[in-house]
Amino acid sequence: MSFLSATLSRVKPSPTIAVTTKARELKAAGKDVIGLGAGEPDFDTPDNIKEAAKAAIDRGETKYTAVDGLPELKAAICAKFKADNGLDYTPAQVTVGTGGKQVLYNALMATLNPGDEVIIPAPYWVSYPDMVLLAGGTPVIVEGGPETGYRITPEALEAAITPKTKWFIFNSPSNPTGAAYTRAQLKALTDVLMRHPHVWVMSDDMYEKLVYGDYVFCTPAEVEPGLYDRTLTCNGVSKAYCMTGWRIGYAAGPAPLIKAIGTLQSQSTSNPCSIAQWAALEALTGPQDFIASNNAVFQRRRDMVVEMLNAAEGVDCPVPEGAFYVYPSIAGCIGKTSAGGAKIADDEAFATALLEEKGVAVVFGAAFGLSPAFRVSYATSDAALKEACARIQEFCAGLR
Ligand SMILES: Cc1ncc(COP(=O)(O)O)c(C=O)c1O
Repeated sequence: MSFLSATLSRVKPSPTIAVTTKARELKAAGKDVIGLGAGEPDFDTPDNIKEAAKAAIDRGETKYTAVDGLPELKAAICAKFKADNGLDYTPAQVTVGTGGKQVLYNALMATLNPGDEVIIPAPYWVSYPDMVLLAGGTPVIVEGGPETGYRITPEALEAAITPKTKWFIFNSPSNPTGAAYTRAQLKALTDVLMRHPHVWVMSDDMYEKLVYGDYVFCTPAEVEPGLYDRTLTCNGVSKAYCMTGWRIGYAAGPAPLIKAIGTLQSQSTSNPCSIAQWAALEALTGPQDFIASNNAVFQRRRDMVVEMLNAAEGVDCPVPEGAFYVYPSIAGCIGKTSAGGAKIADDEAFATALLEEKGVAVVFGAAFGLSPAFRVSYATSDAALKEACARIQEFCAGLR
């Protein structure tokens, strides 16, 4: 019998972290590699946030805090939900964790029993299905392909709901596609959920602030107030505030669920880092103008990358509304052979050959549950993106 738990055998390591690690190793070995796998902004944390952390250290804010967040930070999170989303929450309805990832994980661990189903639209953020499996639940995947702009239809959602459905995980703008639902598209989904009162909604709004053009962000509990009592609205400071390493995420929802999440956290990690919480408070309450300037850079890069990828043979890249990812379909490349002799049987083979022959690291679509495609993160320099897209064009031109 294995020393390792049976639970662990149900999950796999994060494939996005694996790609980033492989690219880093190749680079360290002296290879000319451009990594497009990163799930984090290439911008540094703003100075005012760093200063708030330094001041917290100097004030001696270096002890345990309340398990699910400093009162000051919880108050700021309530104010954020009111101002940005029109949602009223009290501090007892708010939990703060070590990154959005821990908050989502805690919520699933606190609620899932064996046999419980969780509906996850694909392509999905790689961690959702594995977190559901770790918590003993069953992921139910609903595909939303390029033909619907990587969104699921209300009909597909309705068809996936069973008496065992516990959660519907909603992520807009999406990792990996960048696609976001308009208010009308989201309302069509919430109308379905209103007909199934046993289904709860976990809305992962991590990319709320990273939206471009005239797209206006919306979230389920705001679009359909009838869902407020069964929605957990999750967010964090990692992406918009360039704070991935600080590890602060948060969520708001019904107080009994928030209390259960706190119980779990009290027996696992206790509170999130005290210093990072003070930094997050400054992020939420300090100047916000850098977000618009970062977004202007992201939007320019998105437009360049979409244009260059669409110029590659066999590649079809929709224009996403948000996040910092694009998710081109490569249906036109499958079945061909690369200039280096690799048979492109699927998107994993495409990504492997692209890395080996052209030194460009992307994450293959199967990792996100929808093939054939790959994910590009454009959270890297304009020069690197331009060179990487040119190499992708060359690689595709070499396919026979
Ligand atoms: C969709 C989505 N949700 C949640 C997270 C987790 O973010 P955090 O760094 O706050 O744990 C990520 C990070 O990649 C993400 O892409």
